[in-house]
Amino acid sequence: MGTDQTSPNIVVESAEAILTVSLRRPEKKNALSLAMYTALASALRAGDSDSAVRAVVLQGTADCFTSGNDIADFVSNPTPERLAPIFDFLGVLSTLGKPVVAAVNGLAVGIGTTMLLHCDLVCCGEGARFQLPFVNLGLVPEAASSLLLPRLAGYHRAAELLMLGEMFSAVTAREIGLVNRVTPDAECQSAAREFAAKLASRPAAAVRLTKSLLKHNLVSAIRNTIADEASHFAARLQSPEAAEAFAAFMERRKPDFSKFQ
Ligand code: COA
Repeated sequence: MGTDQTSPNIVVESAEAILTVSLRRPEKKNALSLAMYTALASALRAGDSDSAVRAVVLQGTADCFTSGNDIADFVSNPTPERLAPIFDFLGVLSTLGKPVVAAVNGLAVGIGTTMLLHCDLVCCGEGARFQLPFVNLGLVPEAASSLLLPRLAGYHRAAELLMLGEMFSAVTAREIGLVNRVTPDAECQSAAREFAAKLASRPAAAVRLTKSLLKHNLVSAIRNTIADEASHFAARLQSPEAAEAFAAFMERRKPDFSKFQ
């Protein structure tokens, strides 16, 4: 097995035709810093162009997938240029030629949930908890979730998840079609590896072509939606509502949005 520590918080391992990319920042619930996005994008790009790789597994640690974007990056000078690594990562993941299997243990918050919409197969542990908290942060959906979630879950369920921003369970994730398989927590990562091994055993060109056919009608809509959401997201980061939400998070208190119209 080859192991490549491309960033202190992203571990990339390659074995038996499977590239495994792991988020490892447990002290911050695997919150994704800009450096982690850069390392993720580079690992995915390298895997996509490496002929020895036939499937990719994306996972967190044994008890947490990710708490989403590092809020500190949103507080300090969040210019679109500075946040470019996030959109580079989304661009690579949403257009990857090879199949991606996600293993979700514990929390999958924000982009931790929206990135799953771009994976091909998703396993989660029975204790997994998902959340799309954008509205609660004064923000808007990202990663083309405003396009893909209503297609997957239906408008009303998407509206509930995106407009209320409450945590939801593995059972709900399975019901709305976000997750293929729910396992006991301890078995989630091995179930994802089993999926990846099956994909790797199939004829690689046929798998890649099937993925491309499944997605190609949506490619430009996804790209345009990511860009559209990103311009609203960048503007919302400067809003008083977002400032209140981030200050409340840092100060470990409830936000008060009552003064904003
Ligand atoms: N960005 C930055 N730091 C984060 C983070 C994030 N998204 N999520 C968690 N952390 C940090 C916490 O600040 C805390 O750091 P500290 O120990 O230095 O104070 C540490 O990770 C542990 O988090 P904590 O809040 O104590 O864990 P918890 O189990 O009580 O709650 C969450 C976990 C994920 C529910 C909670 O941390 C949270 O809501 N985080 C924000 C998630 C979010 O809104 N992400 C989307 C951004 S678009």
